[in-house]
Formats: sequence, C-alpha cells, structure tokens
Amino acid sequence: MAAISTTPKLSGRDVPEFQVFFSDLPSNDFNTLFQLLPPLLAPAAGSLEECLVAGEGSTATTRPYLAAGVPGTFYGRLFPGGSINVFTSTFSLHWLSQVPDEVSDSTSAAYNGGRVFVHRATEATAAAYKRQFQADLARFLQSRARELKRGGAMFLACLGRTSADPADQGGAGLLFGTHFQDPWGDLVREGVVEREKRDSFNIPVYAPSLQEFRDMVRAHGAFAIDRLELVKGGSPLVVDRPDDAAEVGRAMANSCKAVAGVLVDAHIGERRGAVLFERLERRAARHARELVEKVHFFHVVCSLSLAP
Ligand SMILES: C[S@@+](CC[C@H](N)C(=O)[O-])C[C@H]1O[C@@H](n2cnc3c(N)ncnc32)[C@H](O)[C@@H]1O
Repeated sequence: MAAISTTPKLSGRDVPEFQVFFSDLPSNDFNTLFQLLPPLLAPAAGSLEECLVAGEGSTATTRPYLAAGVPGTFYGRLFPGGSINVFTSTFSLHWLSQVPDEVSDSTSAAYNGGRVFVHRATEATAAAYKRQFQADLARFLQSRARELKRGGAMFLACLGRTSADPADQGGAGLLFGTHFQDPWGDLVREGVVEREKRDSFNIPVYAPSLQEFRDMVRAHGAFAIDRLELVKGGSPLVVDRPDDAAEVGRAMANSCKAVAGVLVDAHIGERRGAVLFERLERRAARHARELVEKVHFFHVVCSLSLAP
C-alpha cells in the first residue's frame, strides 16, 4: 500500500483508500481473523485518505485499510469482473481442490494403495496429482483473470520442488511421504486402522517444479509472467533447541497436525488420530537430526499481470 500510495503516477492526485478482502474457504474462522485485526488507523486530523499516504502513522497495532471477508474457493469466482487491483495468495495454491479420483480408486492404475501422499508414489499416481494441479491452477487463473483490473498485478507463493520428478516432493515429501506416512503403516500392522482405510487416505497437496508452473501459466495464456523464481524457505520445524530430539519430535507432530489434523480426524476419528500423531512424534524424535538437517521447503514465487 505504501508503494502504491507513493507511486509517481499518483503525485498530485487524490490518494486512494484501500480495501483488503480476506478470502478463504467458508469453513475458515473469519470471526477470529477479524477480531485479531488491529483497529483502523484513526486519522489524527483530516480524512482516512490522508492517513493512508504511505501508511503514514500506521504501526503494527493499527491498519491503514478497510477490511472485508470473502468466503469461497479460490478455484472459482470470488469477486465481480474487473474489480480487483492487486491479488496476493501465499502458501495455499499447493492445496488441491480434491484428491484426484483415480488415486483413491482401487481399480485404477493410479491407485495409491499403501501410501498417503504423492511422494515416492508410482508414475501413474504422480501423473494424476500433476493433472489435478494443472486443472486447479487453470481454474484459479481463469477466475483471477476475469476479476483483475487491467494494469493490476498478482503475486503468488506456494510450495515448490527442486526435482523434475513429481514423485519427489522434496521437503514436503520428507514430511508427508516419509515421517507422516510410516506411522500409518504401524497402525495398519497393529490392527488399529484397517488397510483399506489407510489406502483411501491421501494428502491433497502438490508442490510443482518451477518448470511445471511456468509451462502451466504459459499454456493458460491469460497472464504474462513478470517474475518467477524458486526460493528456498525456512524449515517448518520451529524449535528453540535443534539438538533436543524430544522437542524436534513435538514440533514435527504439531506441524503435521496443523496441516493435516482435520483431514486425519475426519478420516479415522479423533481418538485414532491422536494415536497416529503420538507415533509420529516418537518416530520424529528418533530421526531428529535428519529432520533438522533435511526438512526445508522451497516456494514457487511469482508476479503476474494480464497478458497484453
Ligand atoms: C497454509 S494456510 C496459508 C494462510 C495464509 N495465506 C498465510 O500465508 O499464512 C493455507 C490456507 O489456504 C486455504 N485454502 C486451501 N484451499 C483453498 C481453496 N480451494 N480456496 C480458498 N482457500 C483455500 C486454507 O483454508 C488455509 O487457510
């Protein structure tokens, strides 16, 4: 907002007021979000418009914009046509709209029996995940292209991977395809979870490679790529003492629970879900050193504008 307010094009003209639309699935707790927003920047003198100049006077405890919530899936339309100046989406587009149908169909070549994620899956399973990502991204781009004003911009960041192979999901793979995967196997062996129940569970996440993402945006055609990079991010394991195996185990279990806990509970119930995450914590503690060294996320980061 500061950058927009101070753009030379605006000099001598009225400073725009900003409205921010926060969008998420309808199940998102919008009330908590709104309660956490800092109060609107109170104009000391004059209008809100004056205070919005380069965020003047705004602090971490005030906000120089008006806020609204928009429930819905970003794989469909959310806003009126040509109404939005700037879109931004962070750490969300790797969430597929669904697990690809073939992946949970035991008669399909893409059936992911024995696994709960695309990492280390068969070529057919990986191809099905990739197709789903392709179809979802196309729907996302189609909707945003209708909603973005000409001259506007879109900034995206989502999980990405370094490998060309879709079945090698990098840091996300190590997290969900190995350390989260193995406790499912334990519970199946011990008879706590039925094999079919495990086999019908899959994490609907796909980290694209930079090349895939570029190809998909180009093939779609509505957007020009202004900038596109694969950026190494931090570790999802937030720990004070990386040499404390128990703490690493807890961080790992919490991280997986934050991402997949709701899906797990819906699939096998809270009681068995709790057992799964306990096992995960213990396994992660045993592999603490490897986890601290190897679990890093990469992110596809890009800036797009409407194609001429
Ligand atoms: C990891 S959080 C990222 C939240 C925030 N953007 C950030 O950067 O901290 C992923 C968010 O994407 C939302 N999400 C997943 N699929 C979605 C979809 N199809 N439409 C809208 N939101 C979705 C989830 O509900 C969740 O709030």
